[in-house]
Amino acid sequence: MTEYQARFRIWRGDAEGGALRDFTAPVHDGEVVLDIVHRIQATQATDLAVRWNCKAGKCGSCSAEVNGRPRLMCMTRMSVFGREETVTVTPLRAFPVVRDLVTDVSFNYAKAREIPAFVPPRGVGPGEYRMRQVDVERSQEFRKCIECFLCQDTCHVVRDHEENKGAFAGPRFLMRVAELDMHPLDAAAEAGLDRRATAREEHGLGLCNITKCCTEVCPESIRITDNALIPLKERVADRRYDPLVWLGSRIGRRRN
Ligand code: SF4
Ligand code: F3S
Ligand code: FES
Repeated sequence: MTEYQARFRIWRGDAEGGALRDFTAPVHDGEVVLDIVHRIQATQATDLAVRWNCKAGKCGSCSAEVNGRPRLMCMTRMSVFGREETVTVTPLRAFPVVRDLVTDVSFNYAKAREIPAFVPPRGVGPGEYRMRQVDVERSQEFRKCIECFLCQDTCHVVRDHEENKGAFAGPRFLMRVAELDMHPLDAAAEAGLDRRATAREEHGLGLCNITKCCTEVCPESIRITDNALIPLKERVADRRYDPLVWLGSRIGRRRN
């Protein structure tokens, strides 16, 4: 087993402010950034705050920015950096710092609560739901989400514009709206809920200009932009600008 000394720079502080601190720590073959942060915590900075749970890329807790890029610390191998390179670890930039590498991600939970749940179809009992395989697979891709919020952190709509947070749900939750809107058994429309209208009017779909940064950082390789955001935009445009679709929706709504 080879060992070398790595240079780390870790942001330390709280909501009042903070600064980058330098550390040097040994690295062994196969280790990831989270291993080194834990080693520094164990040996040099015992009060260093860092959130993690699974160390397997599945709980979404260890999100941070490594050399400026939103990443899961437990899935970022030290071998991707040069041995001479300083590895800089900072908290997620789009969310308020609690302490050190821990941020307050409650923005995301608030956005999640704003999206009405799946509405079961009337007259179809449990075990009687039938869907085409292509529809099952679409939902399954979106449901790989581990809620790490790296996509939420990287999207420029809120990353550099705190003022947009009220009007923008972010890619993770627009993807949720898309999933439900494309779900063949969701009966929201019959219940008087227009998911496409809410995507535009309440969740800020129009603020997304398809930069795809969200897709690039997703550790689950979910094609957020291509498979959720762009199709949702197309469905909203169909509803809004096709006069026949618009008329049909008005008549349908009047019947309800
Ligand atoms: Fe994380 Fe991907 Fe889910 Fe966004 S969509 S929260 S990047 S797993
Ligand atoms: Fe943001 Fe992703 Fe759209 S990064 S602008 S939500 S494509
Ligand atoms: Fe669970 Fe990193 S510790 S995803």
